[in-house]
Amino acid sequence: MKSTFALVLFASCLIGFLVDAYDNYVSESCITDNALTEQDIHNVMMGKLSPLYANQNVKCAARCALIKDGFMNNSGELLMDNIARHFFDAPKENIESAVAVCNNINGSDICDRAFQTLICMEKLAIQFASEL
Ligand SMILES: *[C@@H]1O[C@H](CO)[C@@H](O)[C@H](O)[C@H]1NC(C)=O
Ligand SMILES: *[C@@H]1O[C@H](CO)[C@@H](O)[C@H](O)[C@H]1NC(C)=O
Repeated sequence: MKSTFALVLFASCLIGFLVDAYDNYVSESCITDNALTEQDIHNVMMGKLSPLYANQNVKCAARCALIKDGFMNNSGELLMDNIARHFFDAPKENIESAVAVCNNINGSDICDRAFQTLICMEKLAIQFASEL
């Protein structure tokens, strides 16, 4: 039960890094560097990960946070070891298979790709959790 919860948290935490006080310094520079508005931040906080609500700035801020937190490298590849280390409660095989799938996601540019990767991870985390 605990690991199921951790897996779902995994997805929501990724986007949460944008707004979370947990990593305030990192988040703040990603938010200011990408000129996110209060409405953008509100949308992210409301869990609107849908591309419908995410403009280019939000996508680039998500990429920035993923890279600064060490979850993705500059070429957009998810860094399995760092993700597994941070979300140590989640089953490692689930993280491995999610990373394998989501690393193949395409996007219209680097920010879009990072954002689509995040959405992919969220979907799989929810799916794994529902299968347990
Ligand atoms: C990170 O980026 C480079 C390309 O610059 C790539 O070759 C490398 O395998 C990537 N992934 C990891 C896990 O380091
Ligand atoms: C990404 O693009 C490549 C090349 O266009 C394609 O072969 C691959 O199937 C695409 N991946 C996904 C997950 O759509």
